[in-house]
Amino acid sequence: MKVLVTGGAGYIGSHTCVELLNGGFEPVVLDNFSNSSPESVSRVEKITGKQVRLYKGDVRDASLLNKIFEENKIGCVIHFAGLKAVGESCRMPIEYYDNNINGTLSLVEAMRGHGCKKIIFSSSATVYGVPERLPLDENCRVGGTTNPYGTSKYFQEIILKDLYASDNGWTVVLLRYFNPVGAHESGLIGEDPQGIPNNLTPYIAKVAIGELKEIGVFGNDYPTPDGTGVRDYIHVVDLAKGHVAAIEKTADSGVYVYNLGTGKGYSVLEVIKAFEKACGKKLPYVIKPRRAGDIAECYADCSKAYAELGWKAVLGIDEMCASLWNWQCKNPKGYKS
Ligand code: NAD
Ligand code: UFG
Repeated sequence: MKVLVTGGAGYIGSHTCVELLNGGFEPVVLDNFSNSSPESVSRVEKITGKQVRLYKGDVRDASLLNKIFEENKIGCVIHFAGLKAVGESCRMPIEYYDNNINGTLSLVEAMRGHGCKKIIFSSSATVYGVPERLPLDENCRVGGTTNPYGTSKYFQEIILKDLYASDNGWTVVLLRYFNPVGAHESGLIGEDPQGIPNNLTPYIAKVAIGELKEIGVFGNDYPTPDGTGVRDYIHVVDLAKGHVAAIEKTADSGVYVYNLGTGKGYSVLEVIKAFEKACGKKLPYVIKPRRAGDIAECYADCSKAYAELGWKAVLGIDEMCASLWNWQCKNPKGYKS
């Protein structure tokens, strides 16, 4: 089956293409390379020994979408394309809502026009806002998001649910990712943030390689065991496999919502320690004030994904850190290396 992968050159998209190819699917990638490069797709081909059809362009470009659907018999769409930086979304809300919301609208319009009614959407734990309870299960309250990025994910979920309500022939799978980290074991693909990373693990990796001086720990006065923020980090390869499981197990129409995490939370200091083990050196850090908008703890109840998709994360924090370090060492300048 051909699977249209929007944003397939990106971090999670490229890892998902590998797993799709390994699973016998044919990914067709659409990406405008606003936060990636075609190099990641070439690397996917290198890892798998298989070719990927690649279209350069914007998911908001209706004529390009029509061309893709006309040239390929697409059975299902995985929709990764979107802007994702929380801080940037606060400075550029119009660009974020335009890209993310209009991107989804234009995609589902083209899908409807070509009779393709299966979509897997990259949602996020961010839709839960301040957690109602922990671990977060799929029935927890959503909304109350604190930035345009998170709100755009929440809105996109609503749009897709409304679409199903209007036409029960759709299959809508909302995958709520927790904190994706790590890289493919080959070290050929990984996360390639532009500029100074916003997220914890790429920042740690850049300190470990000597590009940045020290890690800033955003707050050590949270009500957590060591006072630092706790998150549910998930290996990107496990996450990628979750998408393949979703395609295989959600043949019937409906709206399906799944948390994809490990169910276990790690504090910032625990992640630094795990990374020190992976890279074999002590890493300097300083305690800084809390970052605006951060919550103390966030981790998932992933039992629904296991019960219904037969999927669960198998890789732990040590594999996450080791694979990220391997990618960082082999590609010190990311895909530009
Ligand atoms: P990424 O930036 O590496 O990948 C997104 C890809 O989409 C990039 O290749 C980018 O060039 C492309 N893109 C963006 N706008 C586009 C457009 N209008 N048309 C065509 N291509 C476009 O990010 P990622 O970490 O791989 O995230 C993938 C998806 O998962 C995003 O929707 C993101 O919001 C979501 N998500 C990510 C995280 C995370 O922590 N990485 C967590 C939860 C959800
Ligand atoms: N942190 C630091 N120092 C840093 C960066 C982060 O101490 O330099 C801390 C944060 O305060 C937080 C933890 O590390 O406690 C994780 O922060 P990240 O920025 O790596 O991740 P977030 O949990 O803030 O958010 C990420 C994505 C969101 C997504 C969310 C849930 O950035 O887009 O996971 O999936 F919505």
